[in-house]
Amino acid sequence: MTDIESRIDTTRPHTARIWNYWTGGKDNYPVDREAGDRIRELHPGIGEYARADRLFLGRAVRHLAAEEGIRQFLDIGTGLPSADNTHEVAQRVAPDARIVYVDNDPLVLAHARALLVGTPEGRTDYIDADLRDVDAILDAAAKTLDLDRPVALMLLGVVIFIEDDAESYAIVRRLMDALAPGSHLVLSHTVVHPSMPDVDAAVAFWNEHGTPKLTQRTPEAITRYFDGLELLDPGVVPCSHWRPDTPADAVAMYAGVGRKAE
Ligand SMILES: C[S@@+](CC[C@H](N)C(=O)[O-])C[C@H]1O[C@@H](n2cnc3c(N)ncnc32)[C@H](O)[C@@H]1O
Repeated sequence: MTDIESRIDTTRPHTARIWNYWTGGKDNYPVDREAGDRIRELHPGIGEYARADRLFLGRAVRHLAAEEGIRQFLDIGTGLPSADNTHEVAQRVAPDARIVYVDNDPLVLAHARALLVGTPEGRTDYIDADLRDVDAILDAAAKTLDLDRPVALMLLGVVIFIEDDAESYAIVRRLMDALAPGSHLVLSHTVVHPSMPDVDAAVAFWNEHGTPKLTQRTPEAITRYFDGLELLDPGVVPCSHWRPDTPADAVAMYAGVGRKAE
């Protein structure tokens, strides 16, 4: 058994694999599909919000590459390779774009090769690290990215796994502080909202059975991650409402994009 294989636990549902199941992928185990179906019974819209989050990723990356001239992306909590990963979207607009992926899941590491096939002009790299290890991430990312130039920090569906509020704000702040003026924060987060009570039951089920545990936050608490940044229109909204290509229903995943002033 390789070192990576020995780190993969197929006896407990795992977030990256359930996400992969909901978004139509094949990299998941029976235990993930079972939990994924149970959560879908509690919150039938959940597959929709996983897909909405990936579509938000596409629109945000396209906007940053095409309209804001961003050529470097640091995508932490990458997830298993899917359609339209960050490097594919960015390099379609700007073939010379550089992308560094970071995840702490051994299965994502095992599939990372699919994330590393970019354009000849650009570069991609993968770091096996925890979001909490900010210094290690920045040191390793600096081998591929020029941290003196703007970077888009992508934190999609990952800060939800930092339970302590203060710790989660400090992590995002330390990462943004290390990035150059003109950098952007792209963040999406599961919401707690009176109009979407069924997501609470799904989260409670997840926290009982799955790993790692996840935290819901209010729209106001999610907006605080952007403190000190210029929030791009339309602000922090359901990710399906962030500059949608076609009108879509609200989902229980809020998102925003903020810019660090020059
Ligand atoms: C819900 S998925 C989101 C995937 C992708 N960003 C998206 O939005 O489609 C969360 C990902 O974050 C990763 N993750 C969770 N906690 C993490 C941590 N502390 N450090 C790094 N990655 C983490 C999981 O392994 C998983 O791949």
